[in-house]
Amino acid sequence: MLQIAPSILAADFANLQRDVESAEQAGADLLHVDVMDGVFVPNISFGIPVVQALRRVTRLPLDVHLMIDRPGRYVTEFAKAGADLITVHLEADQPQNILAALGEIKALGKQAGVALKPKTPATAILPYLSNLDLALVMMVEPGFGGQAFMTDQLEKLETVRAMLDQDVPECMLEVDGGIDPATAKQCAAAGATVLVAGSSLFGAENRGLRIRQLRGFV
Ligand code: DX5
Ligand code: ZN
Repeated sequence: MLQIAPSILAADFANLQRDVESAEQAGADLLHVDVMDGVFVPNISFGIPVVQALRRVTRLPLDVHLMIDRPGRYVTEFAKAGADLITVHLEADQPQNILAALGEIKALGKQAGVALKPKTPATAILPYLSNLDLALVMMVEPGFGGQAFMTDQLEKLETVRAMLDQDVPECMLEVDGGIDPATAKQCAAAGATVLVAGSSLFGAENRGLRIRQLRGFV
């Protein structure tokens, strides 16, 4: 079954606990937590204290998407704050430092992921395959919620799927950005196993129904 990861970037920050509980009750599998530093992406969101606070109010695994420069500097702190899965962008540092960050995440007993921006080719993931629990293919330029889905990324998604199938078939394949029931279907057909949904989920009147729609059940 497809896993659904609501992105709290689209939640009401003044009522974060309420929105997290509503996503959990609606049937979410993970909670997607977008950390932005204003350097790697042109936006600033939130950081370690918010991950700590989320950890206190939900049992959902925290899927932390680090959109920060040289992420290796902070993976230990995010792990200690309660992240279950930590994803770093492979564009955010030199390959040896990204590999070291992935190794550190695993050594801390957490799951490790790498993310690819839209302009990054699928082959960029090859050096990291054996260290991965998750690959994240961005379907929008990282930095903001509510952007239009880039259909031209579907081909790359299929290519990444084929690479994972060959070497690490159990690795999760996550898509992020512009996911709604229609684009979810396209991503699932291309091999995605985890769907991040921000505005389409938190903007829905009936979040339980929206999760079933994203899964392709209705
Ligand atoms: C964008 C973030 C996404 C964002 C998705 O940089 O990584 O997780 O919250 O938002 P929607 O689903 O609204 O495109
Ligand atoms: Zn994200």
